[in-house]
Amino acid sequence: MTALSTTSPIAITDDEVRAALDQAVAQVRRNLPAFTYTAQNHSSVGNVYPPVANDQWTAGFWPGEIWLAFEHTGDKVFQYAAQIQVQSFLHRIENRIETDHHDMGFLYSPSCIAAWKLVGDEDGRKAALLAADQLIERFQPIGKFIQAWGRRDNPNEYRYIIDCLLNLPLLYWASAETGDEKYRDIALTHARTTLAHSVRPDNSTYHTFYMDPVTGEPVRGVTKQGYADDSFWARGQAWGIAGMAFSYRYEPLEQYRDTFEKLLSFYLERLPADLVPYWDLIFTEGSSEPRDSSSASIVACGLLEMADLVEGDDAVRYRDLARRMMKSLVDHYAVTDPSLSNGLVLHGTYSKKTPHNTCRGEGVDECVSWGDYYYMEALTRLARSWSSYW
Ligand code: GLY
Repeated sequence: MTALSTTSPIAITDDEVRAALDQAVAQVRRNLPAFTYTAQNHSSVGNVYPPVANDQWTAGFWPGEIWLAFEHTGDKVFQYAAQIQVQSFLHRIENRIETDHHDMGFLYSPSCIAAWKLVGDEDGRKAALLAADQLIERFQPIGKFIQAWGRRDNPNEYRYIIDCLLNLPLLYWASAETGDEKYRDIALTHARTTLAHSVRPDNSTYHTFYMDPVTGEPVRGVTKQGYADDSFWARGQAWGIAGMAFSYRYEPLEQYRDTFEKLLSFYLERLPADLVPYWDLIFTEGSSEPRDSSSASIVACGLLEMADLVEGDDAVRYRDLARRMMKSLVDHYAVTDPSLSNGLVLHGTYSKKTPHNTCRGEGVDECVSWGDYYYMEALTRLARSWSSYW
């Protein structure tokens, strides 16, 4: 059973994809003066992103948007701006500025790997390899996972999170680039640990998962940003869906494909009719809780990634689903009036504080930087045969 019905959005057409991409690129162009030498905040404030220093986990998404704009237009102004960003990312990793966490892939794939792949930027390659070195330092052999946050000798931080699946392509790339299998081995091991422990029996997912620092045995799953430990944080499920697709690309185990399908079914069953989830999937049709539009774009990218890896009816179904989700985002969530927002997609939710979770509470019902990036990536995947940054 899924939430799809005759009232669900129809599939976006190729013309609509092109028009939406044109509109997004125009917004990226308008943002260049404010954000060439600065980073975008993780989320907007009153739908407007403030400029900030390059010290958040989300800083890679804005340069990723610039690279996607470059790919769409071929306009060198985007290349120059994105390469200025690369210098900031090289400085950040060389000086280890706010890099004591696992989000090296989110930071360095859309900024620096993109720069290397698209225009052969050597500093992009160098920065991304340094970031891969930093990421594998966080691998915990006891428990076989990459630790998400905090000091590695802190037993209270002995956990990984489902989001990390999207950091792993940096490691696969580093092995392919250097010929050194150590990065890939750690990525494969971490992905299998996620597969083993992060999916609940009902096919929802744990956001974070603690391991025992002495025995390496699984301990328990808890949330940080979901409504509660036993709820279904929408973006965690979205990272899980996209993460299973990427894991399947890099190691074609049937378990990844099966789990992708199961996580997707759970997600679809809890969507409202317009296919854009509430921020936690315990909230369903008719709730007054905020949405998380970024989850819809992440899932669309995961669907399009998996559609490229399989054949037949499944590939057709995944592409159709992605097109429906994007139709809804383009028609009802995309920013159409730049005087009201410098973002691309409204109604994302970064972290909503509840009495039952441990997050700070920020970026609720706002544009979020990864939501904007994945929206452009999904449109790009629909517009052309695209060589991934991930
Ligand atoms: N990876 C953190 C988040 O999705 O909010």
